[in-house]
Amino acid sequence: MDNYGYHAPVLPEETVSLLITGPGIYIDGTLGGGGHSLLMLDRLALSFGEARSLLVGIDQDSQALVEAAGKLDRYRELTAFFRGNFSTVGAVVHEVLEGAGKGLPVMGILLDLGVSSFQIDTPGRGFSYLRNGPLDMRMDPDGPVTAADVVNGYEERDLASLFRRYGEEPLGGRIARALVAARNGEPITTTGQLAALVKEACPRKDLAIKTLSRIYQALRIEVNDELGVLQTALEEGFAALSPGGRMAVISYHSLEDRIVKRFFASEATADWGPKGVALREPLAPARATLVTRKPVLASAEEIERNPRSRSARLRVAQKL
Ligand SMILES: C[S@@+](CC[C@H](N)C(=O)[O-])C[C@H]1O[C@@H](n2cnc3c(N)ncnc32)[C@H](O)[C@@H]1O
Repeated sequence: MDNYGYHAPVLPEETVSLLITGPGIYIDGTLGGGGHSLLMLDRLALSFGEARSLLVGIDQDSQALVEAAGKLDRYRELTAFFRGNFSTVGAVVHEVLEGAGKGLPVMGILLDLGVSSFQIDTPGRGFSYLRNGPLDMRMDPDGPVTAADVVNGYEERDLASLFRRYGEEPLGGRIARALVAARNGEPITTTGQLAALVKEACPRKDLAIKTLSRIYQALRIEVNDELGVLQTALEEGFAALSPGGRMAVISYHSLEDRIVKRFFASEATADWGPKGVALREPLAPARATLVTRKPVLASAEEIERNPRSRSARLRVAQKL
C-alpha cells in the first residue's frame, strides 16, 4: 500500500521547491492528509537542519487533522494544528507568533484548494455523484448549510444563476427547472437522487457527466463559500507573511485560478495613479513579485499516476 491512501499530494516536488526558501514558520492552510506538510517538513529538516522551523496545519475537517497528526507524528515538536477555516489565517498566525513561533519569520503559506480524495471517496460526505449518500458537501461537518438545503430551499432563478455562475453550466436554467419540479413531489436528499435528476434533464446523455460535475462544483462552492473564503485567505495570508515569504496556491478550476491570478497580479503591480498624470514615484509600490509567471501544471507522468492532478494549477508569489 502506498503512503498516500488518504490523499496523494499534487505537484509535490514543484510546490515544496517553489515555496520553501529558508527556515521559519510555514502554514499549510489545507492540511488534508498532511501529504504536502510532510514533504515540507522533510525539506526543512534536510536543507536547514538545526535551524528552527514550525509547520502550522489548518483544516476545517477534524478527520483530516487526525489523519495528518498521525502522518506527521515524527515531527511532533515542529508542528501545530488548528481546526478552522483558512480564511482566519491572519488570526492563526497572530496566535502562533505569540506562542510556539515567537521570533520566527513567516516564510510560507500553502493553499491546496478543494476537497481531498478521502472526502470525495467517503459517501457519507456527499461530494461524489458516483456514490450514493446524503446530499451534504460540507467540508466542515458542522457548517450551517448543506447541499440539500440549497437544492430544496433556493428559488428556481437563484439555483439557475448559481449553476451558471459557479458551475459555468449552460444548461443551468433547465436543470434548475427540473430540480424544482421534482422537489415539489418529494425533497431531494441524496446524491443518487440528484445525479439521476440532472442526467434526466440533460438532452445529450453523452454530455451528462460534464454537466453533473459542473452542477456538483457549483453546489460545493456555494455550500462552503469557497470563492469568498479564498479571497479573504489571500489577503490575510499575504498580509501575515514576512518580507521574502511566499504564498503558493494550487487551484483546480478556472474560477479559483482567476481569483488567485488577479490577486497576485495586483500585489505585483505598483499604483501609478490615474492615467495621464506623470508621477516620479508610484502612489503605492508593488508588494510582491511573481515567482511563477504562468501556472505550473502537472507532468504527463504525474497525471498518469494521480489523475486528480490533471486540472491542478500552481501559482506562487513572493512578498517584497
Ligand atoms: C486538496 S485537500 C489538501 C490535501 C493536502 N495538501 C495533502 O497533501 O494531503 C484540501 C483540504 O483542505 C481543506 N479545506 C478546503 N477548504 C478549506 C477552508 N476554507 N478552510 C480550511 N480547510 C479547508 C479540506 O477539508 C481538505 O482536507
